Amino acid sequence: MTEVVSTSHGKLRAQTQSRETATSSAEMATSNLEILGRIPESLSGRLIRNGPEPLGDSLSQDGVQRSSSAMLHQISIASGRADYRSRRILANAAFGNGAESGVGIQSLRGGPNSGLVLHGGHVRALGALSNPVIINSGLEVESIDDLAGSMPFGIGAHAHVDPVWDEMFVIGASPRSSTFHVGTLDVKGRMRRVVEIATDTPIFIHDFSFTDTEIVILASGAEMTDGGVSWNPTAPAYFGVLPRDGEASDIRWHEVSPRVVWHFMNSYRDGVQIVVDHVAHRAPIATAGKSALLPGVTAPQLRRTQINTLTGETTDEILDDRAVEYPAIDNRRQGLRHRFAYAALASSRFNDHIGEFDALVRYDFRSDQAIDHSFEEGIIVGEPVVVPRRGSTGEDDAWILAITTDTKNAKSSVVVLDPQAFGEAPVAEIKLPQMLPIGHHLLWVPSL
Ligand SMILES: [Fe+2]
Repeated sequence: MTEVVSTSHGKLRAQTQSRETATSSAEMATSNLEILGRIPESLSGRLIRNGPEPLGDSLSQDGVQRSSSAMLHQISIASGRADYRSRRILANAAFGNGAESGVGIQSLRGGPNSGLVLHGGHVRALGALSNPVIINSGLEVESIDDLAGSMPFGIGAHAHVDPVWDEMFVIGASPRSSTFHVGTLDVKGRMRRVVEIATDTPIFIHDFSFTDTEIVILASGAEMTDGGVSWNPTAPAYFGVLPRDGEASDIRWHEVSPRVVWHFMNSYRDGVQIVVDHVAHRAPIATAGKSALLPGVTAPQLRRTQINTLTGETTDEILDDRAVEYPAIDNRRQGLRHRFAYAALASSRFNDHIGEFDALVRYDFRSDQAIDHSFEEGIIVGEPVVVPRRGSTGEDDAWILAITTDTKNAKSSVVVLDPQAFGEAPVAEIKLPQMLPIGHHLLWVPSL
């Protein structure tokens, strides 16, 4: 059985339109926001959120994604105060030079409305099959990064930066090609190397992960085609492990049970094992033109797959069987063993409002504990981000920031949580001057 589903990264979000939430917001700038509690003096930087706006236009009647503009929201924090700015980036901003054109691929492009990455002092907004759009501190488009013309399909919604070597990894895959490209940019943002890898069929890659020695991707039963994504729910998925300085022939594929992964938490080496923590969906969320779940779809679960690099054997364990998404760790631990992690959690309403989360969860993998931070009824929370405290070196010596939307009162806030007192009241709540539609990813840009 094969079903066509949409490729929109925003499908988690697009289906929430029926709810009484905003679908768009205004461009504006506001200084000196109202604050409940007290922003830690040492918290200094910019919180940027990316997401498609108007929300919902990324899925057309036939379920195939159309380009959607991005709205960036920025909360600048310093000396216990906060300012806000929002700015729209047009969908075609990323489609300058360097990316393949054509009807098939155009219809799948999402605009730079999903991810954000900070590398070499530059903030890049990312989206499916796009070129990164470099954004300045006023959220204006500074330039389009054509990646030296070396990624023929552009790249996906996520890029990752190695905290040790400050290299950035990017991946580009096309629905019209049985090859995909893995690129490595040096500390100055110059493309250092590109590996072209052939597969049996076009594959779908939204996110990926890395260890200190490998890039880890997942090729699942969801395959990219011109019409969207084809999902074969019985087809196994394969983790691909590519040595960071390897060639295409060095990639090794390891079979696991069927799943789709939108977001990885982190991967790291543990001796001969590669540990891959990720959120596994049993199937893509949406079918074409329908808002119902596919049969057999269950809540996305936090899973840990371990790949034995000597024998090729894999083991799989469920770390949390509740509905979670948007996993986050202290980025200083990316590719290295992490102890703490966070995610958005749907405590009870997952089946009613797909893609809405009403709590955050903190994991401690050393003590095997999960602590929830629940919000009041009617409040939706998005992706958490871990902000290291100034001068700190220890993992989780940090603040946890997230954006909430109060659906009853049509208001949004930034909450600042103390990981050492998780589950207790926020140390600060920054009131935003308008209600933000549900969005995608967050980025923290520390002040210099
Ligand atoms: Fe994403």
